[in-house]
Amino acid sequence: MLRPRFVAAAFFSGSKGGTGKSTLAANLAITMSQALKSNVLLIDLGIDSSQTASRTLGVVPERAGALDFLIGSINDANQLVSRSTYLPTVFVVPPGNIRSYQLAISVNESFNRWVYLINSLVMSTGSQFIIIDLPANAPTPILIPALVTSQIINVILDHANYSEYVLREIDDTYIQPMITQLRYRKIVNVVLNKALPGLDGVEARVRGFAHNGDVFTVPMSPIAQYLIAAMKPAILFEPKGSLASFKRAIEAITNTLTRQVKALLTGSIGTA
Ligand SMILES: Nc1ncnc2c1ncn2[C@@H]1O[C@H](COP(=O)(O)OP(=O)(O)O)[C@@H](O)[C@H]1O
Ligand SMILES: [Mg+2]
Repeated sequence: MLRPRFVAAAFFSGSKGGTGKSTLAANLAITMSQALKSNVLLIDLGIDSSQTASRTLGVVPERAGALDFLIGSINDANQLVSRSTYLPTVFVVPPGNIRSYQLAISVNESFNRWVYLINSLVMSTGSQFIIIDLPANAPTPILIPALVTSQIINVILDHANYSEYVLREIDDTYIQPMITQLRYRKIVNVVLNKALPGLDGVEARVRGFAHNGDVFTVPMSPIAQYLIAAMKPAILFEPKGSLASFKRAIEAITNTLTRQVKALLTGSIGTA
């Protein structure tokens, strides 16, 4: 079996917006670079949105990005990438200025260009780990290549009783077809974000959707929310008050992801 040179992890929530994908993606880009002692690349695919993952890492996203490359208007992948101002071992590709109505490209075409993009960026940035921040309702020329090429899929949802139903939909529509029909081996982690005290049993009800992976609960943290609003990576601030439990949850996710990435890189978990 061929060992992968890098591992990609998509942050995904199906059609549900505002669940914390970009928040977690940006913060985990930093903690994963520290944990893996490796360069990490975050690809922000936030089409039609506020490009929060790029901004949170200090990268001004008003420039050509991943989508300009996918539609073929840019051919040099290195033009798209810059280093986070917070940690120079984190590289960021912003989404670019393309809107979804301009994305007149087939899934086949974008798939080929996507594979070329991530391979050339992994080479030029020396990254072992790629984080792919998807928007809610991502158009299929973005979504399908990102999901198919990610060995790890982190499904980020609200810590809420309805998340079980959102997960069932995601599992039926995207995860099961990849695992059972296409026979890809995927690790699916479920993150239940913005948890409030007193709502028990959500973790237990979604456990069956975390294929080969884990379920995490991240607390609602007003301090983290303040820092996110100010576009600063919360993980780099002193763990006072509600930020302490937020940071502990990020740490737990980091530890598990690190284990999963190392297992994939050494070939002790196979991927199709
Ligand atoms: N654990 C948390 N505690 C408090 N607020 C959070 C938390 N996670 C995310 N948020 C807030 O939720 C909103 C949506 O987050 P964002 O990461 O942009 O979601 P998505 O990328 O899934 O659309 C933001 O206002 C952010 O500040
Ligand atoms: Mg987002």
